[in-house]
Amino acid sequence: MTMKAGKVSSWDAVKQAHTLDGDASRLKAYYEEWADKYDDDVRNEQYSGPAYIADLLKRLPINDDVAVDPENPEINILDAGCGTGLVGKELADLGYRRIDGFDISQEMADKAKEKGVYRSLRGNVDLTKRMKDYPDDQYDVTVSCGVFTLGHVPPQSLLELVRVTKKNGLIFISTRNSYCERSNFESFCQKLQEEETVKLVHYVPDGPYIEEEGAQYWVFMVA
Ligand SMILES: C[S@@+](CC[C@H](N)C(=O)[O-])C[C@H]1O[C@@H](n2cnc3c(N)ncnc32)[C@H](O)[C@@H]1O
Repeated sequence: MTMKAGKVSSWDAVKQAHTLDGDASRLKAYYEEWADKYDDDVRNEQYSGPAYIADLLKRLPINDDVAVDPENPEINILDAGCGTGLVGKELADLGYRRIDGFDISQEMADKAKEKGVYRSLRGNVDLTKRMKDYPDDQYDVTVSCGVFTLGHVPPQSLLELVRVTKKNGLIFISTRNSYCERSNFESFCQKLQEEETVKLVHYVPDGPYIEEEGAQYWVFMVA
């Protein structure tokens, strides 16, 4: 049965999105249907992840290894799984001007365009595959909010974010509590740290995310 997000309650729309098994064609179809109503639905569920993750960048204490100055509005930022652009809007409100975004759903990326805050936007980009339009080492900061979540992308997709982020650049990721509990995200990241692929520079164990539950916020430096 095809699930529709447009005609159910905001709670059901969020919950149904978690049952899509990381299947690209189902995710695309689901978010195509949800794009018009997404912002209202997640507002209704007190979704605060985008504001929190943008603020985390702005106020991050930086050590000498990190090659990013959060005070610099000109840093190049990639919003991975940008959806309708809620993260981009928060980043722009904090003064950042060079924000690129992509999403697997063209309709969600089209909605993000309406926010008028992105330098470039692409739809039909799948984070679970090599993203051929994105060269290595391009971004000072990569942000992904609400994407490492149930039924969406596996922990391994972090490697593609590492690839496109500059050495000593930063990656910000939210993982809602239930995703962390049910996936191997923590052990996968532990392995990447042991291999010195990334270094965890900041961690929030239970930050605000959505009314139902909180999330972990991870800030990795690309080693
Ligand atoms: C819960 S929404 C979060 C959107 C936005 N980041 C926010 O915080 O509002 C999840 C987004 O991930 C996108 N997505 C899911 N799987 C993806 C994949 N494999 N590659 C790229 N985007 C994906 C969906 O299309 C959707 O826009």
